[in-house]
Amino acid sequence: MPSLSLVIFLLLTTTASYAYSHSDSSSSPDSFIFAGCTQQTYSPDSPYSANLQALLTSLLSSATYSSYSNFTVLGSSVIYGLYQCRGDLSMPVCSSCISRSLARLSSLCPSTCGAAVQLDGCFVKYDNATFVGVEDKTVLFKKCGPSVGSGGGSGNDVGSSEAVLYGLSGSGGYFRVVGSGNVQGVAQCTGDLGLDQCQDCLSEAIRRLKSDCANADYGDVFLGKCYARYSIGGAHAYEPKANVAGKSKNGGEKKFVIIIGLLAGLAVLVIFLAFLKTICTRPHGK
Ligand SMILES: *[C@@H]1O[C@H](CO)[C@@H](O)[C@H](O)[C@H]1NC(C)=O
Ligand SMILES: *[C@@H]1O[C@H](CO)[C@@H](O)[C@H](O)[C@H]1NC(C)=O
Repeated sequence: MPSLSLVIFLLLTTTASYAYSHSDSSSSPDSFIFAGCTQQTYSPDSPYSANLQALLTSLLSSATYSSYSNFTVLGSSVIYGLYQCRGDLSMPVCSSCISRSLARLSSLCPSTCGAAVQLDGCFVKYDNATFVGVEDKTVLFKKCGPSVGSGGGSGNDVGSSEAVLYGLSGSGGYFRVVGSGNVQGVAQCTGDLGLDQCQDCLSEAIRRLKSDCANADYGDVFLGKCYARYSIGGAHAYEPKANVAGKSKNGGEKKFVIIIGLLAGLAVLVIFLAFLKTICTRPHGK
């Protein structure tokens, strides 16, 4: 039985108004980065549906006073969920980010048993396979900007970005911000990891940034439970809108499909792994 499927799903869209720029103005906490859905769905009137509603309601209400939380809804169809807001967001902004995330998930992943979404300012994931407290270094999303020469940066910036990555990899908390010269870096783990797991996850994210985005004017690596990003001169941008999801041909398999909001014209490497082996109640039973 194919318990874990590995799928590579590239969704490249060309938009005339792609949002690459050297200013931060196009990047807001609500900017879409990626989302993933399981292929398995639940039926509208199932206990799963009711439990999921309960879970989402809890997430949303918790996000008004806490930047991280996890939830388990018990019952005939157990569901686990967590969210994590970026460490520098105020509670109202966190709460609005979570609310946007859930709106994204309901349109991108309607009726799927599991789903995850990353906006610039927050991450939300739920599934019926347990994942809370489990370290996960699967690459969910990776993107490197153009090389520094072409993007307007300088050799100094390359040195600064090395310093920033070094700074991010030092021991620290769950949320790290480092600046040097023209370069900004940020890294974060989800709050369910232990500090050692967090450090291990971030080390991997930063190692990938160094190896895969060397000389790029920005780099983003999102792993299952942590991410690290840097940018030179604010070079960063995401489309504020999600692009349309595609459908896989192997609908019967259990997959987690990642939907990427992409920019045209940039060197883009998107890798995604089916990182959940999710089974949930089938609409018609067995
Ligand atoms: C999950 O949430 C419970 C209740 O809020 C908390 O006690 C527990 O430590 C959390 N687990 C993790 C791994 O964050
Ligand atoms: C997901 O839910 C289905 C049906 O309720 C169950 O058979 C399956 O074992 C669950 N998966 C996990 C990983 O718990």
